[in-house]
Order: sequence, then structure tokens, then C-alpha cells
Amino acid sequence: MSTCAISADYQAGHEIPTSFAHYGPHCPNEDALQLVGDVKGKRVLEIGCGGGQCSIAFAKRGAIATGIDLSDKQIEHARRLAKRDGVWVTFMRGSIEDLSAIGDESQDVVFSAYALQYLERWGRCFAEVRRALAPGGLFVFSLDHPFWACLAEKTLEVVRSYHDPASETWDWPYGDEGAEPFEAFRRKAGEMFRSLRDAGLEVLAILEPEPIECGSGQDWGEYYSPERQRMVPATIIWKARKPIGSRSTRKSAGRGGGVR
Ligand SMILES: C[S@@+](CC[C@H](N)C(=O)[O-])C[C@H]1O[C@@H](n2cnc3c(N)ncnc32)[C@H](O)[C@@H]1O
Repeated sequence: MSTCAISADYQAGHEIPTSFAHYGPHCPNEDALQLVGDVKGKRVLEIGCGGGQCSIAFAKRGAIATGIDLSDKQIEHARRLAKRDGVWVTFMRGSIEDLSAIGDESQDVVFSAYALQYLERWGRCFAEVRRALAPGGLFVFSLDHPFWACLAEKTLEVVRSYHDPASETWDWPYGDEGAEPFEAFRRKAGEMFRSLRDAGLEVLAILEPEPIECGSGQDWGEYYSPERQRMVPATIIWKARKPIGSRSTRKSAGRGGGVR
């Protein structure tokens, strides 16, 4: 998923606020959940930052924030929003599988909202996250709940097996110009847990929130309707930690293709 072409439509359609860090459609936000907690003076890296709203919200709370995304257009949008809001965030274009621009143990928090489902393999990314985190640092991220796609959008019947590993592909239309192909990868909760454990990260909490009427953004459409979310959670949130006393270097995390 690159969201290059659809960025403008996506940002206009969702109007994601920069006043708080969000976890997903109709999901309680970070101010309510306090999974990251006080970020004043802390170094916070957002991976798959999109339009940068969460990074900007962290910067407004005193964080030294950095956001990385694959899409030039999303990064351009993020820089515009940060300028508009008068905060400084370092935004970089790059893959979250290669955080080579980020120093070893340089971050107190790595955060991500609704980006990791677009990454086929988590191993390299999580190794990089572990390397970038200071000992005791937090990795907090949200994505589609693995049960979510099992329930039909309109009838709310179970239409898909939870065990079905096939990815979901669709074309995301934008403007009058066309559509961008998307692919979201499916993992069961146990696989998510194993990816964290294999990367040497300790799971501290798993949240599967019930929907609130007024979640992040203005309009998430029927697909994320609160009615459907009352049956099955749309979002799963993981809070993990790099163990205190553990160390890591870039050499141990493997190499990739660069960030600019
Ligand atoms: C649904 S958007 C979410 C953006 C933002 N976190 C938010 O909550 O608004 C997913 C983002 O992940 C980015 N993304 C997907 N795969 C990526 C990768 N391998 N490296 C960096 N960014 C990626 C996309 O470009 C897109 O901006």
C-alpha cells in the first residue's frame, strides 16, 4: 500500500484531527486510553504516519516526534499540517521495514495506527523497532482486529473463516481519475503475539475496545459502523516493551533500502 494517489481523497474524506493521537475509527483515543502516557520530552517515532496527525498530536504534548511513511503525498500533507499547527515534527519518506535513519536505542516510544496490516511480513519491521527503542521503551500500535473481516458489512453475519489467511485486495477509488490497488494482510491474534515475542518484545496489554460514537475523524462510513463494531471489535491495540536491560544495534536488526 503506498496511498500516493489516494492521499488527497483520504485526507479530505476523513479529516483526522491533530488534537489527539487516535487508534482507529470509533475507537477511544490515546488521551482516554493512556497507553503511551506522558510524552513530554520523550522521543516518539510514528511508523506509517500517513498525514502525520498522531505525530503532530504527540508534538503538541511536548514530544520530540518523528513520522515515517512510504507515501510522498502523505508526507507532504503531514508537513503542511505541522506547519499549519505550528509544531515541529521530523517527517521522512521511507519504508517501516528499514529505519536506518533512526539511531540505535534513540526512541522512547514507537507508535503506529492502522498501518501494519499493509505490511506482509512483520519480522524486519519489528527487529528495527526493537533496535530503535531504548531499553524499557514502548511499542504501541493498532490495526484491524483479526475478527473484523469475518463479519459481513451489511448483514453482520459471519461470512469468512477466522482461520482464512488470504489477504484482502481492493481498488480504492479517488477523484474522477481512477483507483489505487490495495492489499491488507491477515494474521490471527496468536501470530501477532508471536511476531512481538520473536522480535524480543514483551507484550504488556492487548485492547479490543467497544466503539464510541465520536471516534477519530468525521466520517468513517458504513464499513466501520458502530453497529457492526458492537458485534466484533474493528480495532486491536497492542502495547509492548523492549525489556529493560536488553540492548541492540543496527547490525543485529538487518539491513534494508533507506529513508529520506
Ligand atoms: C491507513 S493509513 C494510516 C495512516 C495514519 N497512521 C493514520 O492513522 O491516519 C496507512 C499508512 O501506512 C503507510 N504504509 C503502508 N505500508 C508502509 C510501509 N511499508 N512503510 C511505510 N509506510 C507504509 C501508507 O502509506 C499509509 O499512509
